[in-house]
Amino acid sequence: MKLLPVISLLALTSATSALDNGLMRTPPMGWMSWERFRCNIDCENDPKNCISENLFRDMADRLAEDGWKEMGYDHVMIDDCWSSMLRDKDGRLQPDPQRFPGGIAKLARYLHDRGLKLGIYGDLGTHTCGGYPGTTLDKIDTDAQTFASWGVDFLKLDGCYSNEEEQQKGYPLMSKALNATGRPIGYSCSWPAYRGGLPPSVNYTLLGEICNLWRNYDDIQDSWDSVQDITDWFFDNQEILQPEAGPGRWNDPDMLIIGNFGLSVDQSRSQMALWAIMAAPLIMSNNLRTLSSEARAILQNGAAIAINQDPMGVQGRRLLQERSQIEVYWRPLSQSASALVFLSRRQDMPYRYHTSLAKLNYTAGSYEAYDVFTGKTLSGLSAATEFTVSINPSGVVMWYVYPKMHYEHPQDDGRYPYFRQKYRMSSSLRFHKPRVVPPSLL
Ligand code: GLA
Repeated sequence: MKLLPVISLLALTSATSALDNGLMRTPPMGWMSWERFRCNIDCENDPKNCISENLFRDMADRLAEDGWKEMGYDHVMIDDCWSSMLRDKDGRLQPDPQRFPGGIAKLARYLHDRGLKLGIYGDLGTHTCGGYPGTTLDKIDTDAQTFASWGVDFLKLDGCYSNEEEQQKGYPLMSKALNATGRPIGYSCSWPAYRGGLPPSVNYTLLGEICNLWRNYDDIQDSWDSVQDITDWFFDNQEILQPEAGPGRWNDPDMLIIGNFGLSVDQSRSQMALWAIMAAPLIMSNNLRTLSSEARAILQNGAAIAINQDPMGVQGRRLLQERSQIEVYWRPLSQSASALVFLSRRQDMPYRYHTSLAKLNYTAGSYEAYDVFTGKTLSGLSAATEFTVSINPSGVVMWYVYPKMHYEHPQDDGRYPYFRQKYRMSSSLRFHKPRVVPPSLL
């Protein structure tokens, strides 16, 4: 009898606890098929580009061999159109037998052998958006178990062909079902994108408890217009969205389209910079087999990635929209550092923007700024120092800003602490010894 309150307390705790799969403490990184390869199933005429096991193996090879994995891009994510039109005799999803003759489990092993993870796509509803079999409420457990049995590491659960009530039930149920498999599976919920992305229709507190990331808004397309539209929506709604992100729970403005056809080099830098400020998942959808060296350099920029992956996991904000069509974005980072992005929405010529850190709310002190895309360091900045940045049309200047150090730090290896080890940095980020750190940072 005495045990009863304890038991009900336990039941309550497990029913209300956050999604505790320990995954995605920083935004996930990797590659996903949709934006670039869509629902191309014509393997007869377009064997290199159709949705098939060969495409995912090819991309896995590129991630493993071209330096992507080392930078953190470790997921290969299958999007829509992978499955057979029919479930098997036991009601389980199965891959299209012509396009995935080896099956998903074998593909997962191929990736795991290379230190990569496999993501798959499902849809809560009668059909996927592309018309393939969906996961209705009665199929949630079966599908979670099937994915786990294949060794899948991540699920994007889309929301075509379901109504509000089904989504209200289904997204939490899939979260439970994935946890119940015992396999850690990252969980991306498209739920908010189907409910307008904003409260009261969307409950971000609940989403944070059941999903690792969520699509809030429309699909990205291969154009600068689309990047701008998404950016505007996320920052126009930053009061609502920004506080919802954190380690293990991320807003997802959709895939990186850098390396495709729609963005110039400047616009590609802009997408990378803004996605880093947003603490967005860095999920590329491009053709890694034919990527230009410029696109690769932007996507593998160590400082931009380090900013995106900052362990504090605080999403950034838009600080200013100037009449000159310059916008300033800011994100606080670990070790009292921060990132600044100056974006030009102009269409004429490089714009010389004058400001100071004090005007951008920085407190008094001395700072240094590492320019993420030129690799140059600006030292001797006080908060009051007036400076000028030249920003290309639809381009950015991106800075990693850190307090100038005043005291010797015995363990310091000559780099600002946060950038140690993990990311390949330009040597200009190395400080002149002796290393110095203010006591507040020790
Ligand atoms: C929806 C999603 C996209 C993609 C397609 C697949 O539109 O938002 O990201 O998964 O479905 O059909």
